[in-house]
Amino acid sequence: MHPIIFIIFGATGDLAKKKLLPAISSLIKKDKLSSDAIVIGIGRRSLSDKEFFSMLPELNIKGRYISGMFEDAELYAHLSRILREYDQTHHQCFSRLFYLATPPMHYETILRHMKVSGLAEGCDQHTRQHTKVLIEKPFGKDIDTAKRLDVLLASVFEEQQIYRIDHYLAKDTVQNILAFRFANGIFEPTWNSEFIDHVQITVAESIGVESRGSLYDGIGALRDVMQNHMMQLLALVAMEQPRAFDAISIRDERARVLTHLTPLDKVAIQSVVRGQYRGYRQENGVDPQSTTETFVAMRLMVNTPRWRDVPFYLRTGKKLKEKTTEISIHFKKPALCYQDVCLFNPEAVYRNMLRIQIQPNEEISIRLMIKRPGFGMDLLPAYMRYSYASYASENSPDAYEKVLLDAIAGDQTLFARTDEIYASWTFFMSVLSSWATDDASLVFYDVGSMGPAESNRLIEMDGRRWYIETI
Ligand code: BG6
Repeated sequence: MHPIIFIIFGATGDLAKKKLLPAISSLIKKDKLSSDAIVIGIGRRSLSDKEFFSMLPELNIKGRYISGMFEDAELYAHLSRILREYDQTHHQCFSRLFYLATPPMHYETILRHMKVSGLAEGCDQHTRQHTKVLIEKPFGKDIDTAKRLDVLLASVFEEQQIYRIDHYLAKDTVQNILAFRFANGIFEPTWNSEFIDHVQITVAESIGVESRGSLYDGIGALRDVMQNHMMQLLALVAMEQPRAFDAISIRDERARVLTHLTPLDKVAIQSVVRGQYRGYRQENGVDPQSTTETFVAMRLMVNTPRWRDVPFYLRTGKKLKEKTTEISIHFKKPALCYQDVCLFNPEAVYRNMLRIQIQPNEEISIRLMIKRPGFGMDLLPAYMRYSYASYASENSPDAYEKVLLDAIAGDQTLFARTDEIYASWTFFMSVLSSWATDDASLVFYDVGSMGPAESNRLIEMDGRRWYIETI
């Protein structure tokens, strides 16, 4: 096993400080990573090694900090020298994990310089496969830029070296969707349009853009969360059973869902809700006239026999009432009436619902109808629950711990593949082009609400409601 060296571009940014460096430190503490692991942080801020590592005093991480501009060729030459020094002083080749944790606008510059400086090569001809690049979403800002980035990546790295991160895939409770679906014989037979009325997916955040105003303003909720995290959740819910639990089979099935999203027609495009929270334009770094959306809600269809006529309602937003990521599967009601005679009042019967809460409460629950205890024959909804915490001896690993470990092990299952990313962009292009020429579609919502009223209208138009309820 080669010792590991993490090279983090954007090392003083939020992602590195809040997620990556703590994940590396936690893996060392858990003995999942050798304490010989080295971190080289690269950032534009001028800091000494000591100043950089003392920003994170509680982390037991060793390494170096290099300050420099990503456009400066000397930065990469300097980095090459440092990497060689490590190899030479330790008399062995380090596995190099390059992590692009910068704003996406720097990706091309960094990759071009990596190509020219030969950084992707590894320390000798045998270690190329131990040199990897991890790249954060959003992967491009539309289909053309995604393709361009891919071509560039492919000119520097081989596909097996490229890890396109969607940290939602690495969340323990998201992986549980597959265990739950395919290891339980009672759900799969009903997991289709014969039994399912509709599906809801919500990724709600209570935080706003925080210190990322200037970065977020060029991105928006559709590109930040809907196009990637939410499409991956949708793919896991909607996919067919993979042949094996490996990178090829699982990514094939996820991609199959995303390439079968029904293209949105004009009416559907117009019904996509594009919201902005009140006060967003006053956030630091945000254009005071910004039309960037901080909320999106939409209805889409998956064009496969399994999902014929089953709508999927998706919504995501910032500064909402609470943080919750959840998927709910709403089953059709049973046939209750025959020739005007009903067994129960259909209004009193709620749909069975399977609720998969991904965070912050990690829980799966099922809503059933039962008889209200007593003399009459009244009905009552009741919930059967399984809480993830009650089975875990320790907290679920953080998604970034999983991301790093899998990349080290060379397992690409929980990373997005190019065809998935292209399919998702292709689907969203109609909405993005329509928004690019139409600022009027932007609607505003109050901080602490569940988004604009249009989001409720979107689903109520179909005679359904968002499931927001405290069980
Ligand atoms: C990131 C987005 O990918 O996901 C952020 O860029 C968002 O805007 C974050 O806050 C949400 O992640 P999590 O794991 O907190 O749900």
